[in-house]
Amino acid sequence: MAKVKTIYVCQSCGMDSPKWMGRCSSCGEWNTYQEMRVEQKTKAETKAETWQNDEKKKIRTPLTLDDITIGKTTRIDTTNAEFNRVLGGGVVPGSLILIGGNPGIGKSTLLLQICTQLKELPILYVSGEESEEQIKLRAQRISSGALPKTYIFTEVNISKILREAKKLSPRLIIIDSIQTMSSPHLESAPGTVSQIRECTADLQRFAKELNIPVLIIGHITKEGQLAGPKVLEHIVDVVLQFEGDPNYSYRLLRAQKNRFGSTDEIGIYEMRGNGLREVNNPSELFLSQSEVELSGSAIGVMLEGQRPVLVEAQALVSPAVYGNPQRSATGFDLRRMGMHLAVLEKRVGLALAQHDVFLNIAGGLKIKDPGMDLSILAAIISSLEDTIIDHHTCFAGEVGLSGEIRAVTHIGQRVKEADKLGFNKMFLSSFNLQGLNTSNLNIELIPISKLTDLYDLLF
Ligand code: TYD
Ligand code: MG
Repeated sequence: MAKVKTIYVCQSCGMDSPKWMGRCSSCGEWNTYQEMRVEQKTKAETKAETWQNDEKKKIRTPLTLDDITIGKTTRIDTTNAEFNRVLGGGVVPGSLILIGGNPGIGKSTLLLQICTQLKELPILYVSGEESEEQIKLRAQRISSGALPKTYIFTEVNISKILREAKKLSPRLIIIDSIQTMSSPHLESAPGTVSQIRECTADLQRFAKELNIPVLIIGHITKEGQLAGPKVLEHIVDVVLQFEGDPNYSYRLLRAQKNRFGSTDEIGIYEMRGNGLREVNNPSELFLSQSEVELSGSAIGVMLEGQRPVLVEAQALVSPAVYGNPQRSATGFDLRRMGMHLAVLEKRVGLALAQHDVFLNIAGGLKIKDPGMDLSILAAIISSLEDTIIDHHTCFAGEVGLSGEIRAVTHIGQRVKEADKLGFNKMFLSSFNLQGLNTSNLNIELIPISKLTDLYDLLF
């Protein structure tokens, strides 16, 4: 049997030492020593591994791509459509999935909810953060049904967890926070770099050997990075990010890395009193909730991941009372707004320099898609001119510095979504109209190429 021992290794020069040192005696760097676990093989074991002995044992050899046969990798359907979508169609057996997010965003709730929805049983939910009663109370909140085949295990010792998991042989394992887990082979406290790396490596070995998928919750640091070493993100197959504004109830699930699918898909949820509700029609969350139509608002079709979402841009333009006009933007880049105002001033001839301009994106969304530009400019002009834009009109287009309207990506999907939601007019770049299939559409598409066209047509 190989003997396991721990050593401390300098992350800068690779020097090792049996004891921790503040300053490396070899390279002189400070605080670079990290605990590591090494297996000391006996002479006989090392010998058995050399290549001369390969023929006697069944050992892997290089294969051509043609020789490799694909086994049955049926994905596990979580019956949570948004979760499946982000993963690329379900959980791949034997995969390691890491979910990160700010505290209180709903990571534990999401995974417990998946336990209650999963048809393939049993499931092992390991929690190092909450007691059994707390988990039971939460489960009662999100599901009224009985859950006889969801095993809850409050344990932090990774070896004990894997031993129980092997006995139970579940279809899915959930680890509620890798930061609370610890390996008995290491002396350092849970949550340290070496512990996280060691526990994840143990979980990975287990998942691949027994073909059981493991979902791991990871904490996020103040800077918004996944806490723990970057190496964690390299070990796992999928990295998901659960995010949302604490002041609003919707939550977005994004894939940052996905070995089995696209990273463009997003899942949208709404946090309710009884758990997370899947949002199939995201536009409902971001369109205005006001009944009366007012000036200064325009609806844009933006893309969130691969999904088109209709979002309302609101602007308020009023004469500046104090010397310096104010500019403020919520959910939109302030510098980009400044650029748009300069374009309006120069290319359309609107006197905005003497006006305060406030911009807001409804629903607390943060816009990165340049396709929203046209709706933002329309909202600003609408407020300046105090003219209402009909709420069945929407916009998609990027605005350039010379006031030209540029084409946006995935225009077909955007048009289809607007049509589906009952909009009857859509302004878009004339370049986008070329080659667009407009059959079966009820929506009227209005191509424009310059900002002045928009102004003339609308106001
Ligand atoms: P939680 O899953 O504990 O967050 P995390 O594991 O990411 O730290 O979510 C906690 C928050 O969710 C808490 O503030 C209460 C809220 N919540 C609801 O609004 N509805 C619910 O049904 C549940 C279970 C939680
Ligand atoms: Mg939690």
